[in-house]
Amino acid sequence: MFALTSVPRVALRASAPAKQWAAASQSIRHASTLKEAVAEAIPKKQERLKALKAKHSNTSLGDIKLDNLLGGMRGLKVMLWEGSVLDAERGIAFHGKSIPDCEKELPSAKDLGLKGKEMLPESMLWLLLTGEVPTADQVRGLSAELASKGKLPSYVEKIIDSFPKTLHPMTQFAAATAALNHDSAFSAAYTKGIKKAEYWSPTFDDSIDLIAKLPAVAARIYYNVHGKGDGKQAIDPNLDLIGNFSNMLGYGDSVGMTDFLRLYIAIHGDHEGGNVSAHTSHLVGSALSDPFLSYSAALLGLAGPLHGLANQEVLVWFKGMQESIGQEASDQQIEKYLEDTLASGRVVPGYGHAVLRQPDPRFSALSRFYEQTPELRDQPLVKMVQQVSKIAPVVLGRSNKIKNPFPNVDAASGAGLTAYGMTEMNFYTVVFGVSRALGALPNLVMARALGLPIERPKSMSIEALEKSLK
Ligand SMILES: CC(C)(COP(=O)(O)OP(=O)(O)OC[C@H]1O[C@@H](n2cnc3c(N)ncnc32)[C@H](O)[C@@H]1OP(=O)(O)O)[C@@H](O)C(=O)NCCC(=O)NCCS
Repeated sequence: MFALTSVPRVALRASAPAKQWAAASQSIRHASTLKEAVAEAIPKKQERLKALKAKHSNTSLGDIKLDNLLGGMRGLKVMLWEGSVLDAERGIAFHGKSIPDCEKELPSAKDLGLKGKEMLPESMLWLLLTGEVPTADQVRGLSAELASKGKLPSYVEKIIDSFPKTLHPMTQFAAATAALNHDSAFSAAYTKGIKKAEYWSPTFDDSIDLIAKLPAVAARIYYNVHGKGDGKQAIDPNLDLIGNFSNMLGYGDSVGMTDFLRLYIAIHGDHEGGNVSAHTSHLVGSALSDPFLSYSAALLGLAGPLHGLANQEVLVWFKGMQESIGQEASDQQIEKYLEDTLASGRVVPGYGHAVLRQPDPRFSALSRFYEQTPELRDQPLVKMVQQVSKIAPVVLGRSNKIKNPFPNVDAASGAGLTAYGMTEMNFYTVVFGVSRALGALPNLVMARALGLPIERPKSMSIEALEKSLK
């Protein structure tokens, strides 16, 4: 457990009265190992930020053009996000580590003696929060902590059970996540007057609590809407987060599906801060809304078809294509179908990206999984995903407006789920939503540790623009 000598400097800096000190050190003494690691990482980050501010507060990071303002703020460097950085050519790096680096370095199911071989989302969470690669023992401890917190309060179960089956699973997911804020440690501490320097601690506790509970929320929705799983959301304390998730969904007997979910959830965790879900949680969290409310808002953004819902849209598009030209379609037929989609004014889901200008490394990671897994390799849908990924960039590349004709992660993700038996497309974005918390919530913890202010960019009217651009 945490020794008093290593009480986080963030608490020391707060010059808190003795009573609050005791409360802070008490909470640290019972903290998980991950919390200890975060407490150690925070003062170093605070110092680095302080040094940057002291030296560069007025240094320009670039101009703002009218194009940026009208173009969804693309390219504007306007937020701090520690977990990952997205490079247009190289793709995502989590604290500098690419997906192949993570696959090599992060503790996997195999390292923990579990069935399977893929990296564990718990390992990714540790990396995202601390910037460090955890040991297998540290990940095992984190898995056990998440398992101990995974059960839903009965009032949330009742709320989920009251939703009509016809309500989209993402709407249910966001509503149930918001309702979990009934027990928010941050809200309770804020009401009692917690000091600003200590905000990160209950934010961390809420974040871990929410990450632990998201699989049970998702599984209950899956059971209610699609009748799969046993509806009980029982949690095995000896299993990892996704081992339990897979069990709850009714796929626990499939090592392949469980391992696929581990990879899926690890690589969807974070994609820097500017995407709709990540930015939404950051924005809402900047008002000091608790992690449950902030992440609920993120889920509502993820539910949009240009963002997370694209993984559902891809399957709808594939189904339409199979109905129209059959399962064994030729390259020419697929090319024509792609051209017809574009000509009809619709987007080809799973292709393009606001930042990336190369194939998405997350797509490559899933493709690699498909190629290396005999039970998936020859599945018709998986084969079609691979086939389309070679033709679509050529067709989309002919358009002079589409900046990135390559596949993104959504082009591949649904095929694996379908092949393993999860054929219910309207649940796919929920699986994504279980994952995105791994990146969005650590950012809330860091934003509070670094004392970031409420977000408040300046908007302009057409009239104001006309005047200022005269
Ligand atoms: C992801 C996405 C929203 C990025 O949008 P963006 O940053 O505006 O992309 P671009 O700058 O390349 O867009 C320029 C134009 O090309 C179009 N375009 C981009 N990707 C396209 C696609 N896959 N199919 C058809 N048209 C596309 C845009 O709709 C836009 O058209 P418009 O000028 O008529 O509005 C866009 O590529 C898209 O809609 N893709 C399909 C949905 C998807 O897969 N989303 C998940 C992303 S991880």
